[in-house]
Amino acid sequence: MSSDDSRHRLTVVIAGHVDHGKSTVIGRLLAETGSLPEGKLEQIRALCQRAGRPFEYAYLLDALKDERAQGITIDTARVFLNTPAREYLVLDAPGHVEFVRNLVTGAARAEAGLLVIDAHEGVRENSRRHGYLLGMLGVSQLAVIVNKMDLVGYDEQVFRRVAAEYTAFLAEIGLTPASVIPVSAREGANLATRSERMTWYDGPTVMEALEGFHGAVAPSSAPFRMPVQDVYKFSGNGDDRRIVAGTVESGSVTVGDEVVFYPSGKRARVRTVETFAAEPPRQAEAGQATGFTLDEQIYVTRGELVARAGQPQPEVTSRLRVGLFWLGRRPLVPGREYLLKLGTARVPVQVETIHRSLDAASLEVRSPADAVERLEVAECTLALGRAIAVDPVTRIPATARFVIVDRYDIAGGGLVREALTDPQRPLRDRILLRNYKWETSFIPAERRAARYRQQPTMLLLTGPREVDRKRLAKALESRLFEEGQIVYFLGMANLLYGVDSDLGREAEDRAEHMRRLAEIANLLLDAGVLLLVTAAELTTADLALIRTGVPPERILTVWLGDRAAGDLPVDLHLSERDAAASGVERLRALLVERDAFLGTAGSAFDAS
Ligand code: GTP
Ligand code: MG
Repeated sequence: MSSDDSRHRLTVVIAGHVDHGKSTVIGRLLAETGSLPEGKLEQIRALCQRAGRPFEYAYLLDALKDERAQGITIDTARVFLNTPAREYLVLDAPGHVEFVRNLVTGAARAEAGLLVIDAHEGVRENSRRHGYLLGMLGVSQLAVIVNKMDLVGYDEQVFRRVAAEYTAFLAEIGLTPASVIPVSAREGANLATRSERMTWYDGPTVMEALEGFHGAVAPSSAPFRMPVQDVYKFSGNGDDRRIVAGTVESGSVTVGDEVVFYPSGKRARVRTVETFAAEPPRQAEAGQATGFTLDEQIYVTRGELVARAGQPQPEVTSRLRVGLFWLGRRPLVPGREYLLKLGTARVPVQVETIHRSLDAASLEVRSPADAVERLEVAECTLALGRAIAVDPVTRIPATARFVIVDRYDIAGGGLVREALTDPQRPLRDRILLRNYKWETSFIPAERRAARYRQQPTMLLLTGPREVDRKRLAKALESRLFEEGQIVYFLGMANLLYGVDSDLGREAEDRAEHMRRLAEIANLLLDAGVLLLVTAAELTTADLALIRTGVPPERILTVWLGDRAAGDLPVDLHLSERDAAASGVERLRALLVERDAFLGTAGSAFDAS
């Protein structure tokens, strides 16, 4: 470990059952390490005296918290603890559910954990739940504090009993604490100084245990990861540069580095690193919000993950094996759609399988399970609406962490254990190579969009075989053409007897038909065109393949026909009657609504 790494601030979360003494442990440590603001301790003592109540170290946290809150609600006390060796950020959350929520949503990203157990009360359900949760979230550096030893007469036997029970529990879930420490937080025993009442104990004090934890992987040696938050354009005339902005989650990036965007696989070199500082830095590293420009004007979007060429690459998939914790009032069930947020990606998600679900306090297991109830932990396979880039938690925890939203609430969260293969895998590998080898034109996509006054878009018109889609698509093409748009109608038949003439019509050829359709669509979209495609009876699997070859955000799907679209996700469903009466208007309105073009004559489209 370099000296730099040991100076790195360590984030420690303190957990345990209600009233077992978490806040007292921290308050006392703050006081004993001289980490408090000048006069704070005296102020709180005086306050207690005036109010006629006994002084509590736990009040220090409330006092510090109030000072910082200033009108904003914060539910985790964040305190800084300074020792000669380094600085600690200690997170103390009141209440069980808030604590869990903060942990699973990543509000608290702990590198180590202190688990506090009351010697007198012994191991309680949240002692177990929190231990389980920390383990599941990858916080495996733990110290167990058996607190309130003064209440049990500093008895070694009591300590041994509690320690044995809890370490046995941790062992069951694969955790081994670095130390188990008998403490009296109230009396200051074995926190910063060794207790004379417990000479039978020769392990580390809490302070020594903290100093023994090590920080996350040194930022410079970890693979670079930055979820794309936004892509900004310079607005100067003739200035085509774009800034790719985000927060570096891991590793670092330097001017001149080759970077790869996932899931698209597009790549370019970093030309500049941008900040508000007068002197532009040459490098950005983990924890920094930053932006950089590229040497080629490739089209990338929010939600992609940037990695560096030559380093371990993230996985791209639409199926994930995960560990998650559920907080939702409604149970998590297969077949219902939720929203998954991972990095800056937002995708619809369904549970494919619940392999096992367990009550994190009793460790009672149901395997397999048909639902994950509130406050249960589960191992599941998730199926995403489209592929995203992730890392398994063993490689980079920061880009393995996700939350699940049910309606509008964060209802769960967890970590990606494994990126599973999905049916689009073989095609995706070819697309990654295609994008890697892609020759980018000097003309950036924005310039084309501005010139043509439109965003290249693929409108996929599908439905039952017997319904006539082509007439409507051609009518729309004519209408948009008359309005001055660059538009092209492409019927599936135009491919079948041309580009696809070497393929059969059997089921096993279908994926190749779709791949070729996607490749041709991708070329036309790259050329800036509004593309109207008709194809009968498209399935969800077909669409998944097309979305692998064409940027998914550039595709609109319309189902034309009286029969329902099945599970095919569509942007618009038109009955035959509506199509006959106002089909062109409805499709045109959809394109305008999704910003494919402005639809009002005369106004400039994106004049930048
Ligand atoms: P919540 O935040 O409500 O979950 O509680 P907590 O775990 O932060 O506990 P806190 O530090 O507020 O302590 C709870 C009570 O236990 C307080 O009245 C403390 O004074 C008392 N307490 C904490 N540590 C000790 C100890 O070592 N000995 C004794 N006798 N009492 C203690
Ligand atoms: Mg507390």
